Amino acid sequence: MAASTSSISRLGFRHHQPLGTNPGSRSQPAGSVSVHSGSHCFYFKPLEATRQSQLSRISVVVKAESRSEEMQVDISLSPRVTAVKPSKTVAITDQATALAQAGVPVIRLAAGEPDFDTPAVIAEAGINAIREGHTRYTPNAGTQELRVAICQKLKEENGISYKPDQVLVSNGAKQSIYQAILAVCSPGDEVIIPAPFWVSYPEMARLADATPVILPTSISENFLLDPKQLESKLNEKSRLLILCSPSNPTGSVYPKKLLEEIAKIVAKHPRLLVLSDEIYEHIIYAPATHTSFASLPGMWERTLTVNGFSKAFAMTGWRLGYLAGPKHFVAACNKIQSQFTSGASSISQKAGVAALGLGYAGGEAVSTMVKAFRERRDFLIKSFGEMEGVGLSEPLGAFYLFIDFSSYYGAEVEGFGKIDDSDALCRYLLDQAQVALVPGVAFGDDSCIRISYAASLTTLQAAVERIKKALLPLKSAVPV
Ligand SMILES: Cc1ncc(COP(=O)(O)O)c(C=O)c1O
Repeated sequence: MAASTSSISRLGFRHHQPLGTNPGSRSQPAGSVSVHSGSHCFYFKPLEATRQSQLSRISVVVKAESRSEEMQVDISLSPRVTAVKPSKTVAITDQATALAQAGVPVIRLAAGEPDFDTPAVIAEAGINAIREGHTRYTPNAGTQELRVAICQKLKEENGISYKPDQVLVSNGAKQSIYQAILAVCSPGDEVIIPAPFWVSYPEMARLADATPVILPTSISENFLLDPKQLESKLNEKSRLLILCSPSNPTGSVYPKKLLEEIAKIVAKHPRLLVLSDEIYEHIIYAPATHTSFASLPGMWERTLTVNGFSKAFAMTGWRLGYLAGPKHFVAACNKIQSQFTSGASSISQKAGVAALGLGYAGGEAVSTMVKAFRERRDFLIKSFGEMEGVGLSEPLGAFYLFIDFSSYYGAEVEGFGKIDDSDALCRYLLDQAQVALVPGVAFGDDSCIRISYAASLTTLQAAVERIKKALLPLKSAVPV
């Protein structure tokens, strides 16, 4: 049997340490890596390691030694991939799902997705789209019908005017954001990202060969960016400022006045564009209100507005998001998308039209979900607010609570080890309380952990009980 490169990429690699001394593989050559496929086992032995210093890339050529055949495969990866961190939220969600599938009663509060089903009217529109034969490629930028509906929404709800050719529909807002960064950033450009940030922003900047510049914010300022701090960090390399309001992971909502102050600073820097991620705009708790950055004086020309259907309409699996902005930038993103994924799903786009047809801010279907989120938020704020040594900033939107548990760091737990950061605390809580949460370090703030309250009130009550019980012995174990 000859192993092709493609078959190898589907196999599982197992590294043996120290090389060549693995007792479980009698005939494994020293310094090799074994790969198992069904009943076959292949051994790959590094033959040479070439350092290409200019590219700072190590290329490893491997040789396959199975019973009868020999082959050579270069298993080196692009430095771009090496520089990127995998998404912690996805990793923890997967881990928690695997535990749940293995029968462990894990409470999963790590994922950033509503626990509601897609509203029936929207789902029906998707089903009808299939029945009616809307199953072919759509225009790369999205159907005219959906882009017109998006323009209407942006005009009526956000006070920003776009024509359909200034809108690009993508497979989720994630794609819209990545394409925007790719389209406007040159190598070495700086992407300004207030922390805590959505996990993907810095990695997307790195993938685009740009440099993420992280601006920390503080819980006492509700995790909002200080305009003076922003001003002090801007220079001729600053290309893109990413704002996310309501924010994932903090739930902070930027008040209009603060956005106006930021806009005044941005206006002084002709090279600087703003990517305004407004995907949580409808999940907002009155009296907080949402302001679209592009609606501020002088900002339309330099703002790329991103939004999507995943959160407000509980449509994460439909993969539908969009970008709106000046035609020059949108056309560039369109070009990237045309060589990348082409248009979004024809079925999802029909469902998207139905979603926007639900009425202002998603009508009753969305307001019912927001009401439930608010109730859960209030419950969590009350429950954790009562706890000693916990720092909280009341979220005004989205469905996350970003809690400062750093006063629990330093505790030594028998059989577990030291809990000295958000990562260790989350592992401890998964282990002891069987509650899956995301460490703040993934969002650029190690003192906090993120709780997603996209779960029923009963589930949240059980989670709080378990967390409190698991944290109780920690406090006394923290050295003073
Ligand atoms: C802040 C933020 N922006 C964008 C996205 C991407 O959403 P999607 O690709 O599902 O539309 C997410 C999803 O978690 C998010 O939290």
